[in-house]
Amino acid sequence: MASPYPEGDREKVASKLPPALHQELKIRCAELALDIQDAATAAVTQWRADGWTGPDVDTAGAKSFNTWLPAGLYDDFKATCGDRDVSFIQGLAQSIRAWLDGNPSPKELPAPSEPRRIVVCNQKGGVGKTTVAAGVAEAHAEADGIGAKCLQNFITSLTHVELERLNRTREQLLASVAEYTAGGQRVLLVDYDPQHHLSNQLGVRHIPAGDESLITHMAGQPKGELRDLIVPIDDPRFQGRLHVLPGASDGFLLDSQLALSAAQSRGFQKESALEKALRPIEADYDVIVLDSPPSLGLAMDAGLYYARRRPNEKKGRSGVLIPVQSEDSSADAYEMLVDQIEALCEDLGLSIDYLGIIVNLFDSRRGFIATSSLEEWHQMQDQKVIAVVDDLKEQRETVRLKRPLLGYVPESKQANFMRLIVAGAGK
Ligand SMILES: Nc1ncnc2c1ncn2[C@@H]1O[C@H](COP(=O)(O)OP(=O)(O)OP(=O)(O)O)[C@@H](O)[C@H]1O
Ligand SMILES: [Mg+2]
Repeated sequence: MASPYPEGDREKVASKLPPALHQELKIRCAELALDIQDAATAAVTQWRADGWTGPDVDTAGAKSFNTWLPAGLYDDFKATCGDRDVSFIQGLAQSIRAWLDGNPSPKELPAPSEPRRIVVCNQKGGVGKTTVAAGVAEAHAEADGIGAKCLQNFITSLTHVELERLNRTREQLLASVAEYTAGGQRVLLVDYDPQHHLSNQLGVRHIPAGDESLITHMAGQPKGELRDLIVPIDDPRFQGRLHVLPGASDGFLLDSQLALSAAQSRGFQKESALEKALRPIEADYDVIVLDSPPSLGLAMDAGLYYARRRPNEKKGRSGVLIPVQSEDSSADAYEMLVDQIEALCEDLGLSIDYLGIIVNLFDSRRGFIATSSLEEWHQMQDQKVIAVVDDLKEQRETVRLKRPLLGYVPESKQANFMRLIVAGAGK
């Protein structure tokens, strides 16, 4: 994140930190070869921007902790503590805890064979799930290094109105480009929607009802290898790295199939059925993106379960991306989705990370309805709006032509919005 504070101009700060947290911070900084003052600066800056949704950190026995922060940051931090009605010690403890969680020990990072899993979901129809799933997958798969340059030019060209809509400064967005690591990755797009729009839009044949598909694998009745169903996208932009697992027409029956399999076999767990089906091919991919159907049910529970943070996985690496629109009915649908996610997490003891909200098809000509609703999305506590995407003709053209967006118009605004989503996801 870009800092408004002058670099080099630092002031000494005397506060308190619980010894265990201080020790963890020292070890983590050593492991990541960072100065403690830089980690503390990042922690406080991030905490001020992101807030804190967890329970209070136990600060009993806190001992003196001295560090150097950029001039002005500590005063702003104290003001934020006042606004949030927390003590300075609690505020600092929350900042450091959140930083530690977001910057895990290299020893804890998942094995390279565990792909990043991005589940694009919302039971409301037509909000842009398929659009975002395809765009995010393409951004991860395009040639390495190309995306960051396009994104940088795009951010530089954003107008003040567009920046205001995003609720970010240009400097903050440019800082996200510096950390942009997408590109050059092996990506699988899973068409998990029986409407199979994703497959159609990319010119891939869907799987007819009754044939071998992801559904038969999930129901525990595979006839062959799931790998054999996967289709590579033939576009030079992706150099063979972008693949699709086509949608199956009988996905409409998945809820009842999962219920039936669970009734017939005591060991069958509905929620992990998708994960079990995809496990054999996970080592072939760096990123797996799931395009979900516009429904909530057992199949969607299995999709959400697949997004869960795995043991030792960095927070915000995998999780759910939620496209919405700037209108009231979208807010109601969002509430229902979050309720389902939270209930699943509680029932099964999972953590599912919210990677961000995308306000799609934004049309400022709708006036107050659009702008006030956008304001409400920005005010949400549990996650961030990471992109506000206009209604753009390139998106409709690419669908009509059955071509991947980033292959058809790689420099377009719409393509860059997809990269912006990737840059902000989980941050
Ligand atoms: N930003 C955009 N600008 C222009 N058209 C868009 C944009 N986003 C999506 N669309 C178009 O809107 C339609 C709905 O988008 P999409 O299929 O991605 O939504 P969805 O949420 O996946 O729908 P469903 O719930 O039916 O699966 C598509 O025709 C898509 O091309
Ligand atoms: Mg769709």
